[in-house]
Amino acid sequence: MRDKILEFLKKNNEYTSGDHLAHSLGISRQGLWKHIQELRDSGYDIAAVPHLGYKLISIPDKLFPSEITHGLDTRFIGKKVYYFDKVTSTMDVAMQWVTKGANEGTIVIAETQIKGRGRLGRQWLSPRYKGIYLSLILKPRVAPAQASIFTLLAAVSICEAVKDEIGLDVQIKWPNDILIRNKKFCGILTEMDAETDEIKFLVIGLGLNVNNDRGELLAGATSLKEERKEKVNRITLLQAILRRIEKNYLLFQKEGPEVITQKWREYNITLGKRVRITYRHKHLEGQSVDIDQDGALLIRNSSGLIQKVTSGDVT
Ligand code: BTN
Repeated sequence: MRDKILEFLKKNNEYTSGDHLAHSLGISRQGLWKHIQELRDSGYDIAAVPHLGYKLISIPDKLFPSEITHGLDTRFIGKKVYYFDKVTSTMDVAMQWVTKGANEGTIVIAETQIKGRGRLGRQWLSPRYKGIYLSLILKPRVAPAQASIFTLLAAVSICEAVKDEIGLDVQIKWPNDILIRNKKFCGILTEMDAETDEIKFLVIGLGLNVNNDRGELLAGATSLKEERKEKVNRITLLQAILRRIEKNYLLFQKEGPEVITQKWREYNITLGKRVRITYRHKHLEGQSVDIDQDGALLIRNSSGLIQKVTSGDVT
């Protein structure tokens, strides 16, 4: 009912009489008042004026499912949203829901994580109401070796959304760190369950520093607010990301991985450089030449041999 009341108030920019609202929604005036109070408790500013009725003044800076899905014109990405104020990690929750049969496109989002995790066993700082911490369930019908392409797809989608919505120039450092002026503001973590020849499901975790202030960032990191010098609307940005992910996912299904790797090359700052890859205390040095159709990095070593790298840190 709360969502219906909000829909109604959002459509009407003017005051709506309590009688009209209650009647249209098929509830009593008293019931309506109770819901309005609950909405106010969640942070919605709703004016109530005798003889005039109710008017929505402002919405809270929260990632509520009703705000995410309001006006989101996707077919399946973000149609089902599980929202939490606090979780251990959205990856854990998404894993639980997908094993219980959650549909492709379902997202799990939280305002803060107490055990947010990054790649290679690192921690992901998740200050409350500042970032976007989200896990997306995908069920592509491809081999496990192709899983990385979906991490690249997510990275490209975020770059496109940030460029369009906020107008900032973004780059991708292989495999999936997204940077502005060489400082990281977004990381992507993909986890999966697979049979020998087909992926059962993927959970793609996106962590974005959005409205973090300087003191809430690690050295070498940045946030969109720091770069833009202005607060960012997390809902609008998130909707743009979800739209882009769906568009690129459908494009991948129609045309194959090349369309994604091609877009990825346009944003990357890794290719063509001398790099050092570190993975589990091992190092590999060489010239980074390209990425292949599975998203692996191709490195030419000093003897001219091309080596394929699927994981690690690039410096
Ligand atoms: C990285 O750069 O190391 C990847 C960071 C991924 C962080 C996101 S935040 C949402 C999701 N939940 C997690 O615990 N991690 C991912």
